[in-house]
Amino acid sequence: MNLNASLIRSTFSAAAENEPRLVQNFYNLLFTRYPQVKPMFSRNAPDKQAQMLQEALVAVVDHLDDATWLADTLRAMGRKHLDYGVEPQMYDWVGECLLAALADAAGDSWSDEAAQAWTEAYQALAGLMLNGAQD
Ligand code: HEM
Repeated sequence: MNLNASLIRSTFSAAAENEPRLVQNFYNLLFTRYPQVKPMFSRNAPDKQAQMLQEALVAVVDHLDDATWLADTLRAMGRKHLDYGVEPQMYDWVGECLLAALADAAGDSWSDEAAQAWTEAYQALAGLMLNGAQD
């Protein structure tokens, strides 16, 4: 995968440092813009979900150069998401809200180039999850 890993890493650390509630802000945006997905998030307590998502994002950002890890991990994650009732179009909604939360938190570290790098990375990751969901 040909991603701008260094730009993705630097904007992610800037965003996480500036805004410890980055992931919570993402959920708030998602549930405000797409309230229809809210009932799907009922297995775990909100804090636990936020922690799992935070850890998953950190792990993915750490492995952007490891195509094998990305494919194995994200395809398995995509299969689990099928069980959660996630439909393909929802990946666009999550991507939109994740990028909006990141852009807001990253502040001055954000740029058109960062938006481009994150858009490409998210599309690639979502694509791997969707591949896993189709197996
Ligand atoms: C790159 C995209 C995504 C990543 C990295 C991600 C990550 C995660 C992680 C780490 C979990 C915790 C449990 C597990 O490992 O399966 C989870 C659960 C979940 N995700 Fe995602 N996810 C993504 C996309 C989506 C999308 C598009 C939806 C659709 C609305 C979604 C809905 C859910 C739901 C409903 C759960 C279960 C929540 C609960 O515990 O109640 N995810 N996700």
